[in-house]
Amino acid sequence: MNFTSKQAVPWIKNLEPYNGGKPISEIASRLNLSEHQIVKLASNENPLGMSPKVKLAISQELQKVSRYPDGNCTVLKKMISNFHGVSSDQIFLGNGSNDVLDCLARTFLRKGVSAVYSKYSFAVYGLATISSGANSIIAPATENLEHSLSAFISSISGDTRMIFIANPNNPTGSYIKENEIRSFLRHVDKSILVVLDEAYCDYLEGTDFTNSIQLLKDYSNLFITRSFSKAYGLAGLRVGYGIGNKDIVSVMNSIRQPFNVNYLAQIAAITALEDQDFIIKSKLLNKQVMRELIDGLSTFGIRCLSSRGNFVLANIGENFKLENEPAGVKLFESLLSLGVITRPVRNYDLADWLRISVGTQEENRDFLNILPQALDLMAKDDNSN
Ligand SMILES: Cc1ncc(COP(=O)(O)O)c(C=O)c1O
Repeated sequence: MNFTSKQAVPWIKNLEPYNGGKPISEIASRLNLSEHQIVKLASNENPLGMSPKVKLAISQELQKVSRYPDGNCTVLKKMISNFHGVSSDQIFLGNGSNDVLDCLARTFLRKGVSAVYSKYSFAVYGLATISSGANSIIAPATENLEHSLSAFISSISGDTRMIFIANPNNPTGSYIKENEIRSFLRHVDKSILVVLDEAYCDYLEGTDFTNSIQLLKDYSNLFITRSFSKAYGLAGLRVGYGIGNKDIVSVMNSIRQPFNVNYLAQIAAITALEDQDFIIKSKLLNKQVMRELIDGLSTFGIRCLSSRGNFVLANIGENFKLENEPAGVKLFESLLSLGVITRPVRNYDLADWLRISVGTQEENRDFLNILPQALDLMAKDDNSN
């Protein structure tokens, strides 16, 4: 018998590969344009790129990539431990926070147990859960597509071992306040690990900002994940981390890949953490451009959900009724044909919606200038079908 895909573990047979934002290079070559003519608002990256200090630091370290990196990420762990006031052995480093989520699932989930996550939340929770052999339990969302913590609680079953909550959430941008998270943790049995995914927390501000790290003292079943891919602008280097009880971290370390955070990623993350002015600047820009984006979309009758991340979820189908295809998907295609990459969210069962990342002011203006043409194209295509 030949070795074929039929020998794959049966529980992954309906899984589909993660579909990320389309790369600029692919669209530029498809449209015969140069890369700088493409506007990418698809993957919630920092439109300012990385901090200039990080750029300098990694350029000075290039010659060292012939050596293996420190597999324990000692210096970076120390930096993160000082930054958050936790001990180094509470920190788990990953090749992006996706790697941390995957290691959590591989360590604690298996056939016969389940994980709970919300209907409209980050696709990797499903990927990690299902590939571990565990069952997914989908907690229904509120009418506004937000997380309902009471629905999470009532979704927990006797075999539930893990709960994933993104805060702020992707793709909706919704946010849960500190007091609600606290009360939720009080209601969850301590035998269930609550994973609070805070990939977008660097964009938060205001008095309702959750300092979730301090909750770790009271809840040994809380595990927080953070990312350097968003506000820190290091998506291409792949570095993220988790903070939790040291016992949990220790067992996860025994199954991770030996050098899962590469050398340049470690240097970049260390330097990026030191440059908090860059985060403040990025946050300010995000706030201003998000306002312009929401206002601009509203002039076309397009409503967005209120977002605490660096993206908005726009309801295209509400004002644009198409006969043949859901409006979110169709607008994504029309924009793509004009060199603007956004993110369709059909995989979240939100085919009438479109997720748009907050870019620079210039990228945002380009997007809003192209939008009328894309809307016309969308309507024409629909009529010609
Ligand atoms: C909610 C959420 N968590 C985690 C991630 C993964 O980020 P990374 O693996 O780049 O750290 C993303 C990426 O889009 C995300 O939206």
